[in-house]
Order: sequence, then C-alpha cells, then structure tokens
Amino acid sequence: MKGITKRFGNTLALDGINLVLNGGEVLGLVGENGAGKSTLMKILAGAYARDGGKISVSGGAVELGSPKAGADAGIAIIYQELSLFPDFDAAENIFAGREPLRRDIALAPLNHRQMREEARRLLQNELGVDVPVDRPVRELSLSNRQMIEIAKALSRNADIIIMDEPTEALEEAERKQLIATIKQLQASGKGIIYVSHRIQELLGICSRVMVLRDGRTVADMSVADLDVDKVVSAMIGGSLSKQFPPRVPARSDPSLEVRGLSLPGSFEDISFDVAKGEIFGIAGLEGSGKSALLRALFGQRPYGSGTVKVDGREVLIRDTTDAIRERFAFLPAERKVEGIFPQHSVGWNLSIANLGVLGRITLRPAKEKEVAVRYISALGVKCGGPQAAITSLSGGNQQKIMLARWLLTKPKLLMLEEPTRGVDVRAKSEVYALVQAAAKDGCSVLVVSADNAELLGLCHRVAVMFEGRITTVVEAAASKEETLALHSVRPPETLSEMGGING
Ligand SMILES: Nc1ncnc2c1ncn2[C@@H]1O[C@H](COP(=O)(O)OP(=O)(O)OP(=O)(O)O)[C@@H](O)[C@H]1O
Ligand SMILES: [Mg+2]
Repeated sequence: MKGITKRFGNTLALDGINLVLNGGEVLGLVGENGAGKSTLMKILAGAYARDGGKISVSGGAVELGSPKAGADAGIAIIYQELSLFPDFDAAENIFAGREPLRRDIALAPLNHRQMREEARRLLQNELGVDVPVDRPVRELSLSNRQMIEIAKALSRNADIIIMDEPTEALEEAERKQLIATIKQLQASGKGIIYVSHRIQELLGICSRVMVLRDGRTVADMSVADLDVDKVVSAMIGGSLSKQFPPRVPARSDPSLEVRGLSLPGSFEDISFDVAKGEIFGIAGLEGSGKSALLRALFGQRPYGSGTVKVDGREVLIRDTTDAIRERFAFLPAERKVEGIFPQHSVGWNLSIANLGVLGRITLRPAKEKEVAVRYISALGVKCGGPQAAITSLSGGNQQKIMLARWLLTKPKLLMLEEPTRGVDVRAKSEVYALVQAAAKDGCSVLVVSADNAELLGLCHRVAVMFEGRITTVVEAAASKEETLALHSVRPPETLSEMGGING
C-alpha cells in the first residue's frame, strides 16, 4: 500500500500510509483507539474506498473496489466487530455466498451436509475447537462466534489474512490455539496482519510492528528492536504513567448484600457483599456463571431464588426497569448487540439511560451537549463531537461512550463486564480512574473480566466462579494472577488435595 489517504468529513483518518507485507511474515499493527488501524485494513480488504494512494498485490496494481474484489485478490479479513449472520449456523456462515450448490434444489441436503463436515473439519483440525456447526450462531458464545469468524477467513485460502483484534473475545486456551494457527499459516508462506491492543502478546507473534498515530506511521520496526515500552511510547508519543491508580480504601458498611442467589443451569447459591466504594471483581472462565450473575442482578435473566439487599433494604429485581429504579447500571461486553443505539449520535447514546432514570420526557439539548462534551474530553474520546454518529467512532471509543453513559446516571451499583475490551493502553488508565472516582463517590462496583491482571490491579477483592459457584474470594492486593487462574479451572477440593493454594 502506497500513500494511502482516507477522509471522513473533517477527519483525516489516514494520511499517506505506506505498508509492505511479505509472504511468511506476521505484521503487527498497533495504535491508540481511532489511530486508523481498522480503516486501513478495511481499505485493504475492499470494504472501504480509499481517497488516494495505490495498492498492489504480488507486484500487480489492484483496485479493490468491493469486499468481493478483495477476496478475489486473495485477501481475507476478520473484522473487529463480528460480521456473522445471527440466524445462520456456523457452516452457513463460513460458506455464505459460495455454497457448493444452492440450498433450494434437489441435491441441497447433501451439499449442506458437506458444508457442515467441512466447517467441523476447519474448526476442529485447524483451530482445535469444538464449536457446534448446526445451531444458529446467535445461540453460541462470543468466543465460539469469534472462532467461526476466524474459520471463515481461513476457509477462503487467502494469501493475505487480516485479523483485527481477533483475541479480544477469546479465552486463554483459544488464544493459544489461534497463535499456533497463525504460526502455521506463516510457515506456509501466508502474509498476516495482526491488529491488537495486547502489546505483549503481539510482540510474541509478529516479526515486524507498524505503529500508527493519528493516521500516520510513526514506527515500522522489527520486533527484535522493540519492547512493550517502546511500542507504547511510539503509540502515544510520550511515556505512560502508572496504569492502575492507587486503591482508595472502601468503606466498611455493605451496600449490596447478595444471599443464596440461584438461577438453575447458570449459577447456584451465590452470596457476597459489596461495600460502599468497594470495587469487587469476579473472575472465572466463560460458562462459569459470571456473566449470568451480572445479567440476573440487572434483571435481564431473573434469578430463581435468593435475596438482594441494597443499603439494608431487600429489593426485588424482576426486570431491567426494577434494576434501573434501584440505580443499578450494567455495561455489557458485547456493545454491538446489547449496548449501542447505532442509528443515533454520540450525545444521544450518552444520555439515553439517564433519561430513563430521571423520567425526563423532554430533551434539554444544551445540557445534553455540555455533559457530552465533558465526558468526551475526560475519556479522551476521539470523535467529531456530540453530534457525530456513534457508528463513526472507532471500536474502543464506542466502548468509552458506553461507560460514560452509565457513569452519568450516578449509579448505586455499577456492573461492568469486560470494561476495557478493545480499549487502548492510555484509555485503559482513563477508564480505571473513572471507575475509581465513581467508587470514591460511594458507588459499589462489580467487575467481570477475563483479564486477571486487570481484576487484581483495579479491585479491592476478587471472587472466582467455577461451574456456577463462588469458590474463593481473595484480597486483590495480596494475590497473584496464577491463583485466580487456578481457582478458575479446578474446584477447591482438588486444590486442597494438592496441598492448598492461597493468595
Ligand atoms: N464510517 C466512518 N465514518 C466516519 N468516521 C469514521 C468512520 N470509520 C472510522 N472513522 C474515523 O476514522 C478514525 C480512525 O478510526 P479506526 O476505526 O480506523 O480506528 P482504530 O485504529 O481501528 O481504533 P480502535 O483501536 O478503537 O479500533 C477515527 O477518528 C474514526 O472516528
Ligand atoms: Mg479498530
């Protein structure tokens, strides 16, 4: 790619980017939220038209005017925001648009079966995962869907494979498997571009790293000459202060008291307290019940039995209206499905929950705008202003808006699921500081995260869930990541048989 430029209205998203990718090479692409990574990759995949510059593949100039043209040129992309058809199964998604034969003719069942077999083979042999291939993907977990997305790109047998933040939704084991797959693809001569905010992980996978800042290339170096600090300072144009702000002590009076909460099939007999100003983490693997627990407390999946008290008073959470009335707030991990209102502006997306809580009917545009402007600057959200369409923001910046929306409601209980997924290093610290500020104001915070380092750095205490139960609660300051990891994969009895593992 030579001299690539791209403009969105007044935003110059890409300003003369040169990018070279060799066969058998894994190129890391990093930069802050809004730096232009996804835009550059969409141009290479034919999904966005460029305003200037040239692209050539294997020495020949190409136009790449559509995703089909990109695919024909041997380029496959795994998008940052998943792009599967929710009502189709894995096989249909992987082969969408190029089924062996149309489904409505006589031979169709056989071919559909072949498709499923091929899909299963791809997922099992090449990615080492057991994903159901015959259920609508909307019924599958986020990480399963991500694996299908990856299988889809691999099935195209492309020479150039772009992965835009592919590991964000994956568990540790799946992440390792994907990395092994990348190494295989590399050994077979494919060129791979790997976009990620997990810089440590990226340095272990890539041969070369290119850093974008505000639509320009600020570094393009072999990994041999790089470490995390060098990459971060190139990204942000300076050095980063401490990632986690110092912990502010929580008060001793409990604000949230959960007793014997059960939702058959999801979690059982859950009891814990969260004090005012306390940040309480929940670790555990996918399926451990941690996300069901948050959804139950927010009234999305009503619990079967147990009690919830707020400030000593028992509350009944039957639906989200009850939860919002109690000033509970919930930031889900999957903002694309559960979070944003894509047809609206940044300002509107910021204020929606607020309006619900205060029961205001009329919008006060001036006030709304003032608040929006304040949060946009506090979180360093890169956007054209409150009027900008939410979908025009980069992935990480959308996440920041979602968080700000709930902070604005001054919640009593703030529940965050993967609060920094897709958020860049600097913005992560900004998010942590905001969560702490909310806690300092007396809010109780529940954080579910797959990132154990994040839980230990941010929270006061961390509970670990395993198969629907809380198996241990640790003091974050005195605990190690390995402890959380161990309790996440084994029931405590096994741990004590092994001689016991504490803090
Ligand atoms: N469809 C669009 N309409 C308007 N502006 C856009 C659009 N897509 C991207 N932009 C703008 O272009 C810039 C680059 O965005 P891009 O999505 O490429 O960032 P990114 O580096 O992928 O960030 P992230 O790490 O958050 O995913 C941002 O300022 C963004 O707001
Ligand atoms: Mg992006």
